[in-house]
Amino acid sequence: MPPRPLLIAHCRQLLTLAGPREPRRGQQLRDLGLIRDGAVLIHGERIEAVGPTRRVERHPLARQAVKFDARAYVVLPGFVDSHTHLVFPSSRAGEYEQRLAGATYEQIARRGGGILSTVKKLRRASPEELRTQARGWLAEFAAHGTTTLEAKSGYGLDLKSEIKILEVLRQLNRQGPLEIVSTFLGAHVVPREYKRRPQAYVELLVRRMIPTVASRGLAEFCDVFCDRGAFTPAQARLILTAGRVCGLEPRLHAEQLVRTGGARLAVQLHAVSADHLERVNRGDIRRLARSNTVCTLLPGAVFHLGKSPYAPARALIEAGAIVALATDFNPGTSPTVSMPMILSLACTQMRMTPAEAIAAATFNGAHALRRADRVGSLEPGQQADLCGFELPDYREIPYYFGVNLCRWTLKRGQAIYDATGRLQP
Ligand code: NIG
Ligand code: FE
Repeated sequence: MPPRPLLIAHCRQLLTLAGPREPRRGQQLRDLGLIRDGAVLIHGERIEAVGPTRRVERHPLARQAVKFDARAYVVLPGFVDSHTHLVFPSSRAGEYEQRLAGATYEQIARRGGGILSTVKKLRRASPEELRTQARGWLAEFAAHGTTTLEAKSGYGLDLKSEIKILEVLRQLNRQGPLEIVSTFLGAHVVPREYKRRPQAYVELLVRRMIPTVASRGLAEFCDVFCDRGAFTPAQARLILTAGRVCGLEPRLHAEQLVRTGGARLAVQLHAVSADHLERVNRGDIRRLARSNTVCTLLPGAVFHLGKSPYAPARALIEAGAIVALATDFNPGTSPTVSMPMILSLACTQMRMTPAEAIAAATFNGAHALRRADRVGSLEPGQQADLCGFELPDYREIPYYFGVNLCRWTLKRGQAIYDATGRLQP
């Protein structure tokens, strides 16, 4: 028997994000498509109808539906977290303490800490260990309202270990419940064994690693950490071009620690996204605004490092750029899975409005993963990915910080997190 339809009725506020399918820019980012006393009718994995409860209740399928009374909740699309480094072996709490005592992220990296210390441990870890760890974090993502996430390799830095990460991601995606979009980040930093000949590592990426990853269907995107201490824009261009030839669409870490020209390169290459962008200048903002490259801002990394400026979100939005928000979940710079916390940081530190932050973490995040035709908004035909926050007003999602008020999350119509006990089949 197919499951009965599910009617989420009487939502205190229903944020549909419905409207034109193009990524939201400027003023459009403030339009959440809010319906008071709204309802969502779900059939199988998809949304059948959305609107005021009184109207949706008259839908023919609504009569046979299981009804969930959502009057205590703000209901919105599940978050689309478009930048994470999900698979890593352990924390770097020791480095956190060193940084608090005054060492910088780059100094620690130059001493062989940082990304390379995670690489060393990851190479020794078994796929089972990595999978178990990641699965635990995925449950936490779901509990904070996230239903789709991107995840990068990049802590292996040799073919075998990069494939190990990407295969773990593939299995996790198949098992569900979250949808995981994989990105090859073999160009995270130059591994120790290539320290004296970085160009040989670029060659290895271009000639061997990228073609292998692509031919096995292990990733959809190719990313480069383009920054001081990582890769130059010239190297990034070679790597991303090779990725594109093999069918991996480019995205990149740009202008995080210093301004290198990565944002400009992203625009030239028509990259899907340029992420971080703390150090962009006015010319970069202008170019990004005229492009279709999504500007993915990662305030969690700035907060956790406690140092650099936040990305100029206001200037980017006002210039007309496509702005998205993501956690950047990783052990070095942003150990959080909480999109609600990212919304709080976006509002208080980057002066985004609560509505802009929510649209950036859902609808524009879906665009950053080329999945806006399925996720990121609540409209008939979209995947039934949604979450409920026990609050009367959506502005309270960022307002209450450091506390998780997400109470339930549905992925493809199934409860993947339910603190109410009323949604489980
Ligand atoms: O997005 N910037 C490069 N990559 C990560 C940091 C990874 C790490 O330190 O382990 C980031 O911030
Ligand atoms: Fe990152």
